[in-house]
Amino acid sequence: MKKIGFLTSGGDCQSLNATMRGVAKTLYQRYDDVKIYGILEGYKGLIYGNYREMKPGDFSGILTEGGTIIGTSRQPFKKMREPDENGLDKVKAMKENYKKWGLDCLVILGGNGTHKTANLLSEEGCNVVTLPKTIDNDIWGTDITFGFQSAVNIATNAIDCIHTTAASHGRVFIVEVMGHKVGWLTLHAGIAGGADIILLPEIPYDINAVVKALEKRNRQGKRFSILAVAEGAISKEDAALSKKELKAKNKDNPYPSISYKIGKEIEERTGQEVRITVPGHTQRGGEPCPYDRVISSRLGSAAARFIIEGKFGYMAGIKNNEVIPVPLSEVAGRLKTVNPDSSIIREAKGLGISFGD
Ligand code: F6P
Repeated sequence: MKKIGFLTSGGDCQSLNATMRGVAKTLYQRYDDVKIYGILEGYKGLIYGNYREMKPGDFSGILTEGGTIIGTSRQPFKKMREPDENGLDKVKAMKENYKKWGLDCLVILGGNGTHKTANLLSEEGCNVVTLPKTIDNDIWGTDITFGFQSAVNIATNAIDCIHTTAASHGRVFIVEVMGHKVGWLTLHAGIAGGADIILLPEIPYDINAVVKALEKRNRQGKRFSILAVAEGAISKEDAALSKKELKAKNKDNPYPSISYKIGKEIEERTGQEVRITVPGHTQRGGEPCPYDRVISSRLGSAAARFIIEGKFGYMAGIKNNEVIPVPLSEVAGRLKTVNPDSSIIREAKGLGISFGD
């Protein structure tokens, strides 16, 4: 009898269920007597002992279903070593439940924070296999994360919808795209949606360069402009400050997000009307796109293979279209960012897209 715990942690995304289905189907193919424990609401369930025994039927019909059938929550890694409000040692509690339930392996689906805790559990002696989930595509060790392409589709659709209105009114539109501290989602949706200006955290912008790019379009007789702005975009000025200095500077910041600051500056400098659209969490919603369904099924199947082979302490990642095992110790605490000198940026610049640098 094999007992495997599934756990989804951090922000959800479209392809979590498809990935769990991939793991489950492969395990059910291989073992007649496998028990899958759905650990509820991420690490919270592992800490407080909440799980649901899953049946093969639970994994039917979920390939196309967004969200996660076992729930998720954010449990910050930096607080994992701190006792909870009742003095409970969280790491000890997780290890005890792992043992009490007699698990042979934990399958953990998550992003960066999740991987730090997964690595900690692995170092503490639990058998762990992980899968790279996030719309941000910022996990080190894999070319692509599941959820990313579905989110690119949604963010691109938002830009497409804005295009017609921008053209009708002759305005400047800003579409603010998620992605946390990295610009992958904005870069891809920006190119796919034909944005004129793309601002990323990895390429701090100069507002004068942004204004210049807008004026150039005006001179070319273009009636409107679209900016795809990453939620983590930052000006050159702010990028030069230390974390502490930036915090002090932003203490009385009146803007709900970076796009509103940029929008205000553009209006003041150009006199053009600016509108801002923030698709927000819609980017994590709805069904996974076919591309994500394929990589989720492949990654899920490969993760199950790792379990069958007793290969623990690894993330299933994709490199050059091959699924490979990546040691958790290498993944944890590292971020995959957009390289400003990469070919995709050069090509985008070649198309006339401004990055405000
Ligand atoms: O990591 C996924 C993500 O959607 C980021 O792009 C975004 O910054 C963050 O999560 C939002 O988090 P929350 O859902 O907790 O508001």
